[in-house]
Amino acid sequence: MSVLLIAGSPSEHSRSSALLDAVEARLLQAESARRLHLDRLRIRDLSPQALLLANWGHPSVARAIAQVQSASALVVATPVYKAAYSGVLKVFLDLLSQTALKGKVVLPIATGGSPHHMLALDYALRPVLQSLGARHILPGVYASDAQIPKTEQGEYQIGGDIQSRLDDAVNQLLTESSGSRLLPPGHFEAVPFAQVRCSV
Ligand SMILES: Cc1cc2nc3c(=O)[nH]c(=O)nc-3n(C[C@H](O)[C@H](O)[C@H](O)COP(=O)(O)O)c2cc1C
Repeated sequence: MSVLLIAGSPSEHSRSSALLDAVEARLLQAESARRLHLDRLRIRDLSPQALLLANWGHPSVARAIAQVQSASALVVATPVYKAAYSGVLKVFLDLLSQTALKGKVVLPIATGGSPHHMLALDYALRPVLQSLGARHILPGVYASDAQIPKTEQGEYQIGGDIQSRLDDAVNQLLTESSGSRLLPPGHFEAVPFAQVRCSV
């Protein structure tokens, strides 16, 4: 199983990236047991001009698209910008093919200045991930800046509540991605709404 961690903040020192670091640390703990391959993509490192002008052929963009292709699961972290997700993440997602996330499990993560836009993951990012064909988009993890205070040394400190939500999210990611979810006898797996066929 290969997991790609995508940092969608344009900032170098970033709270949403700090959450991504915490996810990475948890995945590394599970790595030996699960034979995980971890990869990292910082959108801010890609050529800004190539991103803005949709230059798929630029080496940094082509490499990033290949990273997405070869991952079986993605963790997408973004700051909330203007009640949605970041523009740099958007221009990158725009460069992916319509089925780029087919068969993949995605864990969305966001940080915002206040709790008011905590639903941005659901109303803004989730539909885009869905449109790219993600197999399963896990419940997102949202943290406000107050839940990730900066220490005197300038490091971000993740509060206990968020830590335990990240624990749950990573466990779910591992379970869903490995396909090893075991259901008790007599129980049926939930069918995603997109796969429900109705006739009237
Ligand atoms: C341009 C800009 C727009 C923002 N818009 C919002 C917003 O609409 N809602 C919100 O809760 N926080 C907003 N914020 C605050 C950031 O989402 C918040 O500080 C976040 O943790 C930054 O994440 P980062 O450090 O990973 O970039 C905005 C910040 C910037 C710079």
